[in-house]
Amino acid sequence: MSETSVPSASPTSSATRAASTWAAGDYPAMARRLVPVADRVIAAAGVAPGTTLLDVGCGTGNAALAAARLGAVATGTDPTPELLAVAARRAREEGLPVTWQEASADRLTGVHDRVVSVFGAMYAPDPRRAAASMVEHCAPGGRIVSAAWTPDGFMAAASRAMGRYLPPPPPDAGPPTHWGDADKVREWFAAPEAGGATEIATSTDHVRLAFASPIEAAEFWVRTAGHLQAERRRLEASGAWQALHHDLAALFTEWNRTPGSGVEVESSYLLAVVTRSV
Ligand SMILES: C[S@@+](CC[C@H](N)C(=O)[O-])C[C@H]1O[C@@H](n2cnc3c(N)ncnc32)[C@H](O)[C@@H]1O
Repeated sequence: MSETSVPSASPTSSATRAASTWAAGDYPAMARRLVPVADRVIAAAGVAPGTTLLDVGCGTGNAALAAARLGAVATGTDPTPELLAVAARRAREEGLPVTWQEASADRLTGVHDRVVSVFGAMYAPDPRRAAASMVEHCAPGGRIVSAAWTPDGFMAAASRAMGRYLPPPPPDAGPPTHWGDADKVREWFAAPEAGGATEIATSTDHVRLAFASPIEAAEFWVRTAGHLQAERRRLEASGAWQALHHDLAALFTEWNRTPGSGVEVESSYLLAVVTRSV
């Protein structure tokens, strides 16, 4: 066996709902475009052979697999079993001994030298609790690294465009891009309930996403976004499905950085590196 299954840490009902949403679209196709971010996070985490690492909201396993390639003892955790199955298959194909666990960010287990999250913890319903849980499961002197879309970047703009076609989020849910706001992330990790995060360094970087045309980009977006796929019937019945594609194609045109053929956008993310006190 190239991967070990461990028992589910009883995902919460909101995590179960999130899981069915993430499974509804072709997220693995999007994840393939985000590999450079996982590599950046693992470089910032600084892993060596034998380092234990937990990848929170691992999806199809980009960061856990990158760490395992460097010899880390990696665990990937996510509430979406369908994405974990893809991650486990990738590990098998590469012969990497990664452990996969079905759990949300507030139900982590074990203590790890590094705890990382690439656009994963940002989808937990309670960011303070998720941050505290990441600190709790990081070894003293260890490091936590998070990558999250910034509130002023392309992903946030795309979320706003899609949000016009989706049911409103729960009233108490802050936008996931709060995880891309350095002040908020500092506040959560420095909070007493996070217990002992010391140094917090933040920087911004971006990932490039290129497509043959704005409409191809819009189609890719809709195909990979589970929350849109989950609403597809309703949107088709109301005639909004085409309008959604049109809005997204217009957004890609607006953010396009390469005049001429094709479309390329840069989506910025906040990289936060937190050191846990000894
Ligand atoms: C944008 S994807 C990122 C996946 C992966 N880290 C990557 O880089 O491709 C968001 C992930 O967060 C997961 N997720 C949703 N709710 C979560 C929660 N409460 N705790 C942890 N992960 C969650 C989803 O299942 C999904 O895999």
